[in-house]
Amino acid sequence: MPTLTDKKSRRSGRPAAELIFGDLWTFDPAPETADPKLKPRYDLFIGGKFVAPSSGKYFDSINPANEAKLASIAHANAADVDAAYAAAAKAFATWGKLPGKERAKYIYRLARLLQDRAREFAVAETMDGGKPIKESRDFDVPMAAAHFFYHAGWADKLDYVAPGRKVAPLGVVGQVIPWNFPLLMMAWKLAPALAMGNCVVIKPAETTSITALKFGEIIADAGLPPGVVNIVSGFGDTGAAVMNHPTAVKVAFTGSTEVGKIIMRSLAGTDKKMTMELGGKAANIVFDDAPLDQAVEGIVNGIFFNQGHVCCAGSRLLVHEPVADAVLAKLKTRIRTLRVGDPLDKNTDIGAINSQEQLSKITELVASGVKEGADLFQPACKLPGKGYYFKPSVFSNVTMSHRIAREEIFGPVLSVLTFRTLDEAVEKANNTAYGLSAGVWTDKGSRILKLSTDLKAGVVWANTYNKFDPTSPFGGYKESGFGREGGRQGLLDYAKLI
Ligand code: NAI
Ligand code: MG
Repeated sequence: MPTLTDKKSRRSGRPAAELIFGDLWTFDPAPETADPKLKPRYDLFIGGKFVAPSSGKYFDSINPANEAKLASIAHANAADVDAAYAAAAKAFATWGKLPGKERAKYIYRLARLLQDRAREFAVAETMDGGKPIKESRDFDVPMAAAHFFYHAGWADKLDYVAPGRKVAPLGVVGQVIPWNFPLLMMAWKLAPALAMGNCVVIKPAETTSITALKFGEIIADAGLPPGVVNIVSGFGDTGAAVMNHPTAVKVAFTGSTEVGKIIMRSLAGTDKKMTMELGGKAANIVFDDAPLDQAVEGIVNGIFFNQGHVCCAGSRLLVHEPVADAVLAKLKTRIRTLRVGDPLDKNTDIGAINSQEQLSKITELVASGVKEGADLFQPACKLPGKGYYFKPSVFSNVTMSHRIAREEIFGPVLSVLTFRTLDEAVEKANNTAYGLSAGVWTDKGSRILKLSTDLKAGVVWANTYNKFDPTSPFGGYKESGFGREGGRQGLLDYAKLI
């Protein structure tokens, strides 16, 4: 429907006035002030206790918003990983046999204790990883608690998870998680594994270990039997030790496709079960009958949520030619209003890039887009002088062969392509090595249903984007990996059918 200003401007022949708030007004700072209760040093969580790493080595976790050191983090070596697996194997002898309704009590406790400390965890997550406080507070932490609640509810109903079959835990599982949703990815991994009766050795990512190790405090407070969950921080060497350990009967990995392939190669020929949640290059497809203003909100959320550090980010916008100019114009107007800056400020829309390394990767890929001939748009926003920041960026005139259309940028960078027919949209959307997610914006239900089967993506959102729920399985096709997290399907990836 045309707005009042549209009608007026059509009558007068003058363009509609735009309200651009962007940097024209300075906002008073609105910092979140809850205490993240950080310790100067975080040790490994093995056998229900915090223990120093056997090498005595620690590394720094820094705040990407200002490059200040937050804490020293223990670097686990192979001996520490061995100790973690030994503790897990010992715990499995009792935890694996506990009735589901007893396991449920512990998992409910984890959920409630996390809720009790929600604001503290949100601030810690934002300081360690750079994401805006409004996201850690309203998304990451509540969603992590929701995963524990949901799976606690399953723990005493496992007789119904695979109709006609009984299920049993696998044993001890090894898990490695990435830095984009540190606490939430931990919840996605722990909750189904524990509900099913498995014990766990888990490694957080090196730039974001703090909330995982703080969660060790919650695990201890919940009285979870020692060794059921063991947390070993460190780098890729620690991750490789966790994935390759002979005690692990199953491994679960979320991270880059590159490392996923290394792990798969190293485990080929073993009988370990595996689930892999890897990269993505999702198409967000807008048809000419879509509600364009809502679609623009979905495009913005799709690519700028969590600075674009999202495996299912809508990083390729496919827009129907008749509305391409209108969508691009609306998008640019909307992007000028995004507030980039201090992640702890409650008004911030786009926070800090997770690490210097990731910032360099984004910068390099954006330079390749310019060099290969795409048109770059960035708003005139001011970035803080210290810390890692990148302006929200939109490339138009992108072709399928450009690197920015093919590679996962994992940053606030959108590539816009156009299409004329539905078949062309499907062809372009599926012309990628990945297959994690997709979005469709249209008024037609029949078109949504057709695309939801034609698009080779694990999740297809219709007239929305980035919606998550613990009841809904999430996972990929092709080089985006295999296995599911969430829902019945996710539980079955941690079960033996008997
Ligand atoms: P990464 O895949 O190296 O890191 C993920 C996790 O794997 C971390 O905990 C890391 O310590 C661990 N790891 C590294 N090498 C390992 C090995 N050989 N064996 C076992 N574990 C290992 O990702 P990185 O280097 O931090 O980011 C590089 C790119 O990967 C990003 O720019 C992004 O494109 C992509 N990425 C994608 C993610 C996704 O969810 N789709 C998550 C993180 C990164
Ligand atoms: Mg950090």
